[in-house]
Amino acid sequence: MHKFEKIWLSAGTASLAIFLIIIGISAVHGGHTPAASGIETINPEHVRDDARFKEPGLKESADDDYDYDLYFVASAFMYEPGEVEIPSGSTVKIHVTSPDVVHGFQVVGTNINMIAEPGLISTYEMTFDEPGEHLIVCNEYCGVGHTDMTSMINVVA
Ligand code: CUA
Repeated sequence: MHKFEKIWLSAGTASLAIFLIIIGISAVHGGHTPAASGIETINPEHVRDDARFKEPGLKESADDDYDYDLYFVASAFMYEPGEVEIPSGSTVKIHVTSPDVVHGFQVVGTNINMIAEPGLISTYEMTFDEPGEHLIVCNEYCGVGHTDMTSMINVVA
């Protein structure tokens, strides 16, 4: 074997090793999700027993950083609440979970595009500045009623 071939071969082996190490590190770090990333866990069988999701909707926030918590339960084939009013200019932290199967939670005209997965609470904080209507749609196929699954956020002046 020529000297150059040996060099190239060892360079290839080294980069493969580095690649595998990086994959390994990401696998370890991706294995658990820290609470700070906007995902919490919940027992999907007890969503209705949870004070936050018993009567989902808009609640005044106890946190100084934002004005309201907005809780949504996404289930086959509806969202609760089916419609909600938000005073314009308020900063709202949306929390969404599912007691059954995986649903989507996309708020048309905003950057909000979350997954509603059993066992998890997805959250997203945003300020609604402009009065107007935002349709919420399910963008994960979840069964026969998938296309009927909608809700509405009304931002009111
Ligand atoms: Cu719920 Cu598609």
